[in-house]
Amino acid sequence: MIGKQGPNIVVIGSINMDIVIETPVIPEKGETILGSEMKLLPGGKGANQAVAASRLGMETSFIGAIGKDRFGEQMQQELNRHSINQALTVMPEEKTGIASIWIHDQDNRIVVIPGANGKITWSDIELRKSYIDRSDVVLLQLEIPLDTVVECIKYAHGAGKKIILNPAPAQSLPEEIYPMLYSLTPNRQELSVLAGAPEILQENDFTALYAAMRKMIDKGLPSIMVTLGADGAVHMNASGHTFHIPGRKMDVTDTTGAGDCFNAALAVSIAKGLSMEQAAEYAVAASALAVTKFGAQNGMPEVAEVTRFMEYAF
Ligand code: RIB
Repeated sequence: MIGKQGPNIVVIGSINMDIVIETPVIPEKGETILGSEMKLLPGGKGANQAVAASRLGMETSFIGAIGKDRFGEQMQQELNRHSINQALTVMPEEKTGIASIWIHDQDNRIVVIPGANGKITWSDIELRKSYIDRSDVVLLQLEIPLDTVVECIKYAHGAGKKIILNPAPAQSLPEEIYPMLYSLTPNRQELSVLAGAPEILQENDFTALYAAMRKMIDKGLPSIMVTLGADGAVHMNASGHTFHIPGRKMDVTDTTGAGDCFNAALAVSIAKGLSMEQAAEYAVAASALAVTKFGAQNGMPEVAEVTRFMEYAF
């Protein structure tokens, strides 16, 4: 059990073994191609965010579920290696989650098989609610069942916590949760689903984007932060005030986990008491560094790297 010395965050979410294949082409229907290498790497949006937060110097706890199998053991070792307080439910009947990731043309395509992640319930998490009670920020995503996420949000809200929901992968959400959030952090594709605004995927100007963000604010959200990949991030608060933090130009190796890094860095900054604008600047810088290395968790930068990058890179 953790002791409460400084600020700390709890991440509640998924943990996967990533099966990563780099491919020079995306095969057509019925086509077989030969690849060159497959890598098994620790992943899962929840675990990635926990690892990123820990590397950024924050006391971090992770609540999730694994199967009683080799991948589960390896995932536990990874969390230990990063000094993350783990509150894992081990499910003997289930397999640890996996993600099949194809890397092509500096981008990725991911299919997740949730396994144990898909079975975690509020009853499992309630047993570990002391991790929520002791946290300053609760960070969640949507790779565990939506009912479980909603129950966690209700509990954390009742306990007065700052809750950040990264709605990935996107699905429609019960509107009652929006006012309970500190911030919602979709990417452009996720926002298009949540706001019912497919036009924001076609148009590259900010007018349609701001209109979709406004729709979400009108549902009672106090803050929405939209990640735009290489274009940085835009934010809108409840009064409709917006700011844009431009992206950094980087040599991209692998974008897997960059969004997770952004969310973790945002949560870390909020836990430290920074303003939303300062938090977004920090998160854009951290996630820019994340794309320069291969692998989701492997790419998460250390706190000193981000500090140096923010001081010296323009
Ligand atoms: O956000 C990247 C992650 O999505 C991968 O690590 C994979 O496990 C999927 O959950």
